[in-house]
Order: sequence, then C-alpha cells, then structure tokens
Amino acid sequence: MWVITMMREKTGITGFDELIQGGLIEKRVYLVSGPPGGGKTTFGVQFLAYGATIGEIGLYVTLSESPQNIVSDMSNYSLNIPTLIKLKKLLFLDLGPTLDYGYGDDLHGVITTSYDSVSQPAPEAEAPSPFIVYKEIQNFVKQYEVQRVVIDSVSAIRFTTVERSQEEKEMSRFMRNMKKLGCTTIILSELTDPSTYSTEQFTASGVIFMHNFMRDDSMVRAVQIIKMRGTEHDCDMRKITFNKQGLQVLDRM
Ligand SMILES: Nc1ncnc2c1ncn2[C@@H]1O[C@H](COP(=O)(O)OP(=O)(O)OP(=O)(O)O)[C@@H](O)[C@H]1O
Ligand SMILES: [Mg+2]
Repeated sequence: MWVITMMREKTGITGFDELIQGGLIEKRVYLVSGPPGGGKTTFGVQFLAYGATIGEIGLYVTLSESPQNIVSDMSNYSLNIPTLIKLKKLLFLDLGPTLDYGYGDDLHGVITTSYDSVSQPAPEAEAPSPFIVYKEIQNFVKQYEVQRVVIDSVSAIRFTTVERSQEEKEMSRFMRNMKKLGCTTIILSELTDPSTYSTEQFTASGVIFMHNFMRDDSMVRAVQIIKMRGTEHDCDMRKITFNKQGLQVLDRM
C-alpha cells in the first residue's frame, strides 16, 4: 500500500494552523485574498517570520509597495523583523515598477533592488511580467536556498500581459512554475468579493480570504478558508484580531 506523507508547514499564526490540520502542505502555492487592510501583508510576513525562527529562509517579493515601507510597518509587530533581516533569514526582493535606490539605512545590502540579471525593458518603465517575476524569484531561491516565498501581490503582475487573451494562460503558467520551484508559496491578491473567481484561485492549492467590512457601526475582521486541497478544514468565518504579535484567529463569527 502507498503511504504518502505530506509535510505540513506551520504558519505560526495563532489559531490558524488548527483550522487546516496543523499547517499548509509544503511546497505548494496558496492564495491569500482580501480587501484593503484585511491583513494580507501581515499574514504573509508572519508566515515568513515563523519559518525564519525555525531555520527556513523566507523571501518577500514586493511588486507594488516598497520593501522599506513593508519592513517599517511590519516592524511595529514584535516579530523581530529587523533581526531576521540582518540574520539573512528573511529576504526582500523589490520588483516594483518604480524602484527606489535610495537606501540609507543599515538594511542596505540585505534588501535588494537588483534587477541586473534581466535583459528586458527597464523596470522603471513598466511592471515586470509574470515571466520576469518568476525568473527573479528562481534566482533568489537557488542562491539563498529559500523555502518560504510570499508575493505581494499578484494583481501587480496580472495586468502586464500585452495580449488580454493571453492573460489567463500566462497566470496559469506562472502558478505552475511557482509550484515547480519547490517552495511553500503564498501569493497575496487584492480582491473585494470572495465569489469572483480567477485563474489563480482555481490553480492554487488553497485559498484563504481575509474579510474586512463594515457591519452596523463596526468593522468586521475575519479569516475564512475557501479551499485547501488534501485537507479537512474549517469553512466558517473566524474572527481575527491584530495585536503586537500580529494577527490572531479567534472564534467563529
Ligand atoms: N501594530 C499593530 N497593532 C494592531 N493592528 C495593526 C498593527 N499594524 C497593523 N495593524 C492593522 O493591520 C491593518 C493592515 O494590515 P495589512 O497591511 O496586513 O493589510 P493588507 O491586506 O496587506 O492591506 P493592503 O491591501 O493595504 O496592502 C491595519 O489597517 C491595522 O488595522
Ligand atoms: Mg498589503
């Protein structure tokens, strides 16, 4: 009889791993979607920070926000982000359309803006295509033996395809290639409606939705697992809270 053991990667997010049989099945690609301020970046950074503390090198790829802003915002949490960066357990790769070379702080040298290996149009001119994003990530994964990857966000590369009709094909190719890289990857995507589906959602091994909306006079903040292949999982909306430790999952709504 075949016994296939699937290793699970803990996200380290309090209350979340229990919802998915202990963690994400390793070496697969997942999507964390949600509206502005839903906690996508926090989710991704926590996943990498936890990995870094157990010796797994994490790579955070920024496509819209600058790494400096993300590092500065995320350093507000007590996740030891600056230390993990200095120890090179947490790497940042800036693939945004407008690169900022003005590093003046001590993180210079570990956060890279490098795009040198690419002989394509200047990155200042346009957002990188899925192909270029993949190639850059592949370089980093090989060079630094990266095990966990977060891409922030897919929306930034989705619309760079010249031919609209090629867009879905290109995204599906991107997802397949990312899976082949062998890292446990979380792709963040800006989405306001959990019932509008995209290629990424169908091709991802799991989809997690971060809710953030007004009800009566207060904001509802919750997480919901839309799908998680090969996993017995909770499907309900679970309240989340943000505190010094990052985001934490509480009870059912
Ligand atoms: N130190 C902190 N303590 C408590 N809450 C915080 C803290 N830092 C951030 N938050 C909350 O987290 C929210 C932002 O979360 P995050 O940046 O992860 O969301 P996002 O989904 O990535 O947003 P965007 O779509 O803008 O990229 C803030 O709006 C704030 O409510
Ligand atoms: Mg964000």
